[in-house]
Amino acid sequence: MRFRSTVATVFTALFLCTACHLRAQATQYPDQPPLLLGAAWYPEQWPESQWDPDLARMEAAHIDVVRVGEFAWSTMEPSEGDYQFGWLDRAIALAAKHHICVVLGTPTAAPPAWLTTKYPETLRVDEDGRRAEHGNRQQFSFSDPKYRQFAREIAEQMAIHFGHNPDVVGWQLDNEYAEPDFGLSAQQQFHAWLQKKYGTIANLNQKWATAYWSQTYDNFEEIPVRQDHENPALLLDWKRFVSDTWKSYSSNQISAIRPHADPRQFITTNTMGWFDGFDEYTVHSVLDIAAWDDYISADHYNYIDNGARHDLTRGFKMKNFWVMETEPAFVNWRPTNTPLLKGQVRDMAWQAVGHGAETVEYWQWRSAPNGQEEYHGVLVGADGTPVPVYDEVRQTGEEFAKAGPAIAGTSPHSEVALVNDYDSRWAIDFQRHSAAFDPVLEMLAFYRPLRIQSQAVDVISIHTPLDKYKVVELPALNVISQPIADRLMEYVHNGGHLVLGPRSAMKNEFNGLEPERQPGPLADFLGGRVDQFYALDYDVPLSGDFGSGTASIWAEQLSVHSPDTKVLMTYGKSNGWLDDQPAVISRHVGKGTITYVGAWLDPKLMDSLTKQVLQEAGVEPILPSVPAGVEVCRRTGHDKSILILINHNTDEQHIQLPSPMRDLIGSQGSGGSTAVGSIDLPAYGVAVLEAQP
Ligand code: GLA
Repeated sequence: MRFRSTVATVFTALFLCTACHLRAQATQYPDQPPLLLGAAWYPEQWPESQWDPDLARMEAAHIDVVRVGEFAWSTMEPSEGDYQFGWLDRAIALAAKHHICVVLGTPTAAPPAWLTTKYPETLRVDEDGRRAEHGNRQQFSFSDPKYRQFAREIAEQMAIHFGHNPDVVGWQLDNEYAEPDFGLSAQQQFHAWLQKKYGTIANLNQKWATAYWSQTYDNFEEIPVRQDHENPALLLDWKRFVSDTWKSYSSNQISAIRPHADPRQFITTNTMGWFDGFDEYTVHSVLDIAAWDDYISADHYNYIDNGARHDLTRGFKMKNFWVMETEPAFVNWRPTNTPLLKGQVRDMAWQAVGHGAETVEYWQWRSAPNGQEEYHGVLVGADGTPVPVYDEVRQTGEEFAKAGPAIAGTSPHSEVALVNDYDSRWAIDFQRHSAAFDPVLEMLAFYRPLRIQSQAVDVISIHTPLDKYKVVELPALNVISQPIADRLMEYVHNGGHLVLGPRSAMKNEFNGLEPERQPGPLADFLGGRVDQFYALDYDVPLSGDFGSGTASIWAEQLSVHSPDTKVLMTYGKSNGWLDDQPAVISRHVGKGTITYVGAWLDPKLMDSLTKQVLQEAGVEPILPSVPAGVEVCRRTGHDKSILILINHNTDEQHIQLPSPMRDLIGSQGSGGSTAVGSIDLPAYGVAVLEAQP
């Protein structure tokens, strides 16, 4: 009884507070379904006679959107200046006949042979000076002015032609930005970028501390263009330059498309989760929405890790996003391309929606007749008939159609945030010191218990306003500036609960060491500091407020300098240096707390640390007491509250609801109309529920 009433109160409170955090849907087309299922379709690979049967099968699977064109440059412009869009007009019109709308890709990830042959400077040069060849893709130089001119031209011609086409809902620029160029144009632009940033070479020498190893430069042209084995200041600036160059690469095409495109057509690009080749927040500053390609990151689907990447992508624009590609059971690029288990493709689609996706598109619709990806998972084979996973996708499509109207206008909201900072991730990666210290794994070590216990996490940039969050965790904010430190202190003063992980606040914005020990400009505020850090290849015992356990990979010896800074965890006997020294310390300041975690803690300790932090901050789970392995996602907005429950376990699970909810996809055999008070979910089962007002 007590359980029921507490849950009901929490639930009602959360339901009511949604209006104060309304976050709009990323895309809204009155003439399109609110939740879209889609696939990547390559009409240029097939005779036109195949298009209609293909599209009819898509329609039967409830596919609402196709992405086309992103590798079709040689078909759109078979020779210089000869634009051929008639085939694409016909493909789009035929798709529309089947109630399928279109996202158009600009084809710049795959320049045609005539272009790179006539203008070899448009080909990318790798770090060792080798120029790419035609025959693969992504062979272009992102900085070459000639390439930019061609990219702009094709984008503009496409926009003039399709910018007012009512069946085109948006644009994808290029495809999975990844490889920078190290050729002449990139070198010259890097030097100009540095000159703009530092003004004089003397200033650069001072900020980079180039007296070290006689690195002092006489002029900007002497500075090498490298992404390894260089001064950490150079490496960090190179990554920032690469980020700015991808941003201007995007703007080059956006400024060609936007004047000719209806405002309702969004412009995005498809990103790759934790990929750190550039700063996603920089590039997203010029995009309308975020979109990503969800391929599971290990051999087997780990729903927490996958959910973290959805949350990361949602944080690029702080609003709902698109899954522009996902795997129809398997890919072709792992050492062994094991399939997702039966049921997991649907499970993943609903997880995406639970975390804020408005669209889930499979890569790809049909096996290509030839090419590098003949073994990749698809929905129909090269013969055009369905493969086994087609039925699971069709079921998902049916459910999207049923639940879409209720889900429209809703998005996830969270009281806790995890900070993803590219400068810090790069800085750690350049000098890991402990090979196992992978900054993404460390993020996930903090994310997992936060997600399980709070059931909603925002992954944000350090520049996102923090005031709406009760808890902000910074797993390794290695690089810090005084303005950022000031914002963090203000957050705590105003009642926020800040948790810093190991290696925090060690470097300044030039990737040099802070003049104070960690956490640098926060040390006085914390009332403690890091006396020394140690890389570990053994476990170190520790005990205290979170129980007993071990630290591995990294441990910092902390000290306390303020009478009100508490030691929460202490190391046991290990390497002598750490014996009996503080490992986790915390201080109440103003209305909030700052906690410094000096070690990579084992998962059990991370669980109890998280529990304590959430308790202190007053963060409650959305739905308490759900069985382990059942994921709870909530989307709210427009006075609606939708729960998506996914059973990632291999056996059935029973979930008691705080109050009856409408079963939107009929997962309990109710046909979507009646309210249910509890849910039985089979393995990989999904329930989509709407709170009753
Ligand atoms: C990437 C690309 C696609 C395709 C898939 C295969 O995400 O964007 O073109 O190659 O991988 O998994």
